[in-house]
Amino acid sequence: MKKLFIIANWKSNKTIEEAEKWLHDFSEILSSSPLDLLNKEIIVCPSFAVLEHAGYCSKNLKLPIKLGAQNISRFEKGAYTGEVSAEMLESLVMYCIVGHSERRKYFGETDDDVIEKIKLLLEYKITPVLCISDLSQLDSYINRGKQIIERSKEIIFVYEPPDAISGGGDYKPDSPEDANLNAGKIKERIGEIKILYGGSVNSDNVASFFSQPNIEGALVGQAGLDPLEFLGIIKNA
Ligand code: PGA
Repeated sequence: MKKLFIIANWKSNKTIEEAEKWLHDFSEILSSSPLDLLNKEIIVCPSFAVLEHAGYCSKNLKLPIKLGAQNISRFEKGAYTGEVSAEMLESLVMYCIVGHSERRKYFGETDDDVIEKIKLLLEYKITPVLCISDLSQLDSYINRGKQIIERSKEIIFVYEPPDAISGGGDYKPDSPEDANLNAGKIKERIGEIKILYGGSVNSDNVASFFSQPNIEGALVGQAGLDPLEFLGIIKNA
């Protein structure tokens, strides 16, 4: 049975109070209808402002979740106003999303930035969750950073075509077959790795993606903002 990774990316949503409510609601729903979480890694990625409190609540509630960040600085430390470094995140998270298409689109993040971030994450033993929009982007990463191939077992890859992301403009969800094909092409280039799919995954369509042989989980945006819907994804996975 393959191990599934289900990651909620809260993006720029949820205040501390809203995050606390989500975690309490998640806990309550889960205790009233327990789920089989064997072979499932559940990861929640709040904003930096919320991370520490989310970790505190999650520990108190004994939630079966791990925390991830949505971004890190490409610099190790120093005079980089506004940046959050891998070293700062080391004690807070086990995972960190990197190279999300929204960071590229709105904040001008480049392929080189992404490689520098991956190097730092690996150095600080935080698992990078690397988003890949298409195969040419993957080729560029492979050319720029030997870590992509050499440390591929320590990275979680996500095939996430930007047009499939909900609320991201030209909304065009990918088909499970196409997602599987592209995940397969990524595996052909890199080897036996973990690949998730991202883009409008919800509790209704999750099973159709997870039944594909090359897909080992999902990066979930919109549907992860509601604990009931997110638990529906985990249940139907
Ligand atoms: P979505 O977002 O599930 O809302 O499409 C996914 C993502 O951007 O990671």
